[in-house]
Amino acid sequence: MRLDKILAQEKVSRKGMKQALLKKEILVDGLPAYSLAQNVDTGLQELIFKDRIIEGYEHIYLMLHKPNGVVTASKDKELLTVMDILPQHLQSDQLYAIGRLDRDTTGLLLLTDNGPLGFQLLHPRYHIEKEYAVTVNGPLEPAHIEDFQEGITFLDGTKCKPAKLEILTSSPKESRALVTLSEGKFHQVKKMFLSVGVKVSALKRVQFGDFTLDSELAEGQYRPLNQDELQIIKNYLENS
Ligand code: URA
Repeated sequence: MRLDKILAQEKVSRKGMKQALLKKEILVDGLPAYSLAQNVDTGLQELIFKDRIIEGYEHIYLMLHKPNGVVTASKDKELLTVMDILPQHLQSDQLYAIGRLDRDTTGLLLLTDNGPLGFQLLHPRYHIEKEYAVTVNGPLEPAHIEDFQEGITFLDGTKCKPAKLEILTSSPKESRALVTLSEGKFHQVKKMFLSVGVKVSALKRVQFGDFTLDSELAEGQYRPLNQDELQIIKNYLENS
């Protein structure tokens, strides 16, 4: 949550916050806060305002193995959403998916009620890498690896940043590969493969930044982030 929001909840005035910031009287994990817009999680970080510890609100951080057929949205009039498949007690207007997977894409999706974190991790400035396991309906050749490295141009002319393609198996009818990219254009992976003449028949996100899809999670299952993963969140917050 933004630092100014947390302090406002503690009834600190805007003026009081600004003064304390200038006087370095706001400490986040022992270091002076640098901005009132700073994203702080008092459940993960120690926040001190003028020698007083501000008690934590524990944000929710979940890893979901998104199944095929559900949309990445909070609500939908007709379609089942990722929120609908969570138990009632977790369904909240404040819970968001970090990023978006197509309805027919499966795999790693992080959900949180720490709104600013989502904006932060999706901002192009952070170059968060995402890795996808892809099945396509045709052959993949070493030349495609170079095409991806140089940056694919979609059929409509849109140019992508360089991406990594690792071919796992290739045959005239079906090939499998891993692709890693740091952008999030609409239908990006599908369009990238269309540009090299094959169609994606299955797409699964296996990595998002430093997070790896837990192989114990079956499609549709979720779990709270574990301690190591919360440390990753903390690192992201500290490097924002
Ligand atoms: N690229 C796609 O084409 N679809 C997704 O869901 C994610 C990345």
